[in-house]
This record gives sequence, structure tokens and C-alpha cells, in this order.
Amino acid sequence: MEQYVIRGGNPLVGEVEIGGAKNAALAILTAAIMTDETVVIENLPDVSDINVLLEAIAEIGATIERVDRHTVRINASTIGDLSVDYEYIKKIRASYYLLGALLGKYKRAEVPLPGGCNIGSRPIDQHIKGFRALGAKVEIKHGAIMASASELRGTHIFLDVVSVGATINIMMAAAMAKGNTIIENVAKEPHVVDVANFLNSMGANIKGAGTDVIRIKGVETLHSTTYSVVPDMIEAGTYMFAAAATKGDVLVKNVIPKHLEATTAKLEEIGCDVEEFDDAIRVSASKRLGRTHVKTQPYPGYPTDMQPQIAVTLALANGTSIVTESIFENRFKYADELTRMGASVKVEGNTAIIDGVEGLTGARISAPDLRAGAALVIAGLAAEGITIIDDIVYIQRGYEDFEGKLRGLGAEIQRVTSEREIQKFKLQIG
Ligand code: UD1
Repeated sequence: MEQYVIRGGNPLVGEVEIGGAKNAALAILTAAIMTDETVVIENLPDVSDINVLLEAIAEIGATIERVDRHTVRINASTIGDLSVDYEYIKKIRASYYLLGALLGKYKRAEVPLPGGCNIGSRPIDQHIKGFRALGAKVEIKHGAIMASASELRGTHIFLDVVSVGATINIMMAAAMAKGNTIIENVAKEPHVVDVANFLNSMGANIKGAGTDVIRIKGVETLHSTTYSVVPDMIEAGTYMFAAAATKGDVLVKNVIPKHLEATTAKLEEIGCDVEEFDDAIRVSASKRLGRTHVKTQPYPGYPTDMQPQIAVTLALANGTSIVTESIFENRFKYADELTRMGASVKVEGNTAIIDGVEGLTGARISAPDLRAGAALVIAGLAAEGITIIDDIVYIQRGYEDFEGKLRGLGAEIQRVTSEREIQKFKLQIG
């Protein structure tokens, strides 16, 4: 099992290049199977979630060709099997996007019901409600969702909760329904917009993505396209907090600053200098940062996927901060690990009360999930001494070459697989 070993205490300084958005890419890859023509997708992040999804798509019969590390060519005309294997959905929840894509194109899909997740229970009732409204028969049998329709018909859907997954899944199915669909109370995240742009580049007719209402005119067929995935705002934000927590100075390149406004506002509020360029953001911090309160919300609010990263930063700030998680119920699993590093964090329900401490100290900890894992790496980088992080497989789901990019900023971090390698690292750094 791979681990990270970190010697903390160095401010991160330099430039880092951000890759394509994992969450946009997951949906775009599934939408790519909605045409029989060849689709080229560029700026894909090389992370395990994407690679597992590509395997799942190949497994149902699509032809996948890797052009280079960040580009794939997909041809789905060879798809023969409309049922997805349980192993894939277990590894990666977002394979539920195959429901919307297969239902839209073939009017039939069978996908195992995704199980629980370590950030909380994640119902998909809104996805199902949308498919049914479009005229599909949806049943849950033997642990799988079976959806079928003789035809999908455009309709008016009002989502009960703002859901990224439901918005994208329904949008994909409706793109190839007969007639017009209006979806209200939709998610406005940049990746929703990116998926709509991608579908439109394949000939779909989707308007309003990025607002509360999406309007879709169904089309009969979609065609080939070449498309580049939007930059990853969560990867970018993670490096921005890494700069802040280590009192560093980092230029985060290849970003869309507008997508990072909620993060930028909080960093400025706690005392960082943030400078925006056309496609880059520079974050620097020279003194101890201050406290704040933050509550996660759907975009353009403060993102839940950036909640652990700000919490780690606030654990070192001057004063008491309150972090409220309003999207997922189980997103404070890093709190105990952070406490082992000397932080003062008390979790009550969906709130964490953080009394900032002067410094953290390295410890042996483990990554509870993807974003919390990345946040604990930041804690290790800011802490005095050696931190060893177990279960980094979670982090590898969403961060391409995390340790390499951090080393480029002066971090002392290494991916290791044995105690011997940990000892070697300790000897090397002296
Ligand atoms: C996506 C992101 C995830 C991010 C989350 C919120 C992907 C692959 N994952 O997850 O990283 O943290 O958005 O920005 O893009 N809900 C329901 N019923 C449903 C669907 C959702 O009640 O049918 C609830 C959820 O429990 C949650 C809230 O809606 O409380 C938002 O979830 P949603 O936006 O759907 O998250 P995901 O799409 O799963």
C-alpha cells in the first residue's frame, strides 16, 4: 500500500500547472458514448477515477484509444452491452452517468445502484425522478437500476435538491429525447456548463447551463467532436490553500479565476494576498492568517470539495473559526487525524469549531477520503517534522502527480511503499 512521507515546514514557492477537471471529465467521457462517431477528448487528468471509468466504458464495448497522457479517442459504435459491471460502480460512483448516457442514446440501461460513500449517504432519487419524468420505466432490482423507454419525451422537471449529478444525468438523457425539456433548480457548477458545452459541440441543443434553468431541445443524433476539458477548480483551490497554510507564494496556472471566486474571497478574508491574471492566480501569505466562518453551498457558494482544505488552514489561524458543512453529512472524518497533529477541532453535527493553534506537528495519519486526504497532505506540509499518510489511494483518485507538483513547489514529499523507504527518506533529508 502506498503512503506519503512528508517533512513539513517549508513554505511552498513557485508555479504549478492545473489539469482538466476530474468531475467534468467523468461526465464528458460518458456523454462521449452517445454518438457512433469518433470523439476526441483533450485535457483529461491522469487520475484513477478517470482511468477506471475508461475501463468501464471499454468493458461495455466502446473502443478507447489513448492518444497521449491527457487525450483519448472514443468510438462507441461498437457498444454491445447496456449493462455496467458492479465492480466499476463500486470503484467509482460517477459511473452512474452511464445511466443517463445509455438511456438517452439506446433508451435502455442497467447500472448497479452505487453503494454508500465515505463522505455520507448519497441518494440518487432525483436522477430517477428525472428519468421517469422523461417517460422511462425505472426499477431497482437485484441491486441494479434498470431504466428503459420505448421513447423519451421532453418534459418539465423541478429538482427538489440542487444536485450536480442529477442535473448532468437528466441533461444527457433529455439531449436525445423527443421535444423540449425544461429542468429547474439545477446545479450551476462549472462542470455542469462544461458538459452542456461538450454535448452542444456534438450537436445537442442545450441552453441555460450555468443558470437555475436548463432548456433542452432534443435531437435525434449526435456527432463527432474534439473537446478540451475545463481546468479543475478543486485541484487549483487545493494548491491555493497549500500556499496559504505553508505561508508560501504560489502561482497557480491554467485556471479560470472566475470559478475560484468563493475560494479567493475566503483567502483574502483571512489575510492572504491574492492576485488574479487572465488564466492564473497567485496566492501568498507572509504572516499568521486570521479566523473566519465558512459554510459549504452549491456553486457559486463555497464548495464542499474545498471544505477540508480551508479547515486545515484555519486550524493554524489566529482565533476561532466555524466551518459548516451543508451538502454531505460525513465530511469531517479528517478532524481526528488533524487533532493527532495538534489541532484543536471539535465537531458537532454538521459544524466544526476550530481554535487555531500556533503550529502543527507531524504524525502518522490516514486519508479518509479524496479531498480530506489532500487537506491532510497540506497539514503535513505545514507541520513541523515528519508526517506519514496512509491510504493515499483516495488522493490518487483525483490529483494527478500530487507529490511531483508539490515537490516542484519545494515540498519534501515522497510516495513510498515500505518502512524501509520511509527510513531512507528520513536519512536523505537529514
Ligand atoms: C458531485 C461531485 C462531488 C461534489 C458534489 C457537490 C462528481 C463526480 N462529484 O457529487 O465531488 O462534492 O457534486 O458539489 O461530480 N442528493 C439527493 N438526491 C439525489 C442527488 C443528490 O438528495 O438524487 C443530495 C446529496 O445527498 C447531497 C446534495 O444533493 O446532499 C448534492 O449532491 P450532488 O450535487 O448530487 O453530488 P454528486 O453529484 O454526487
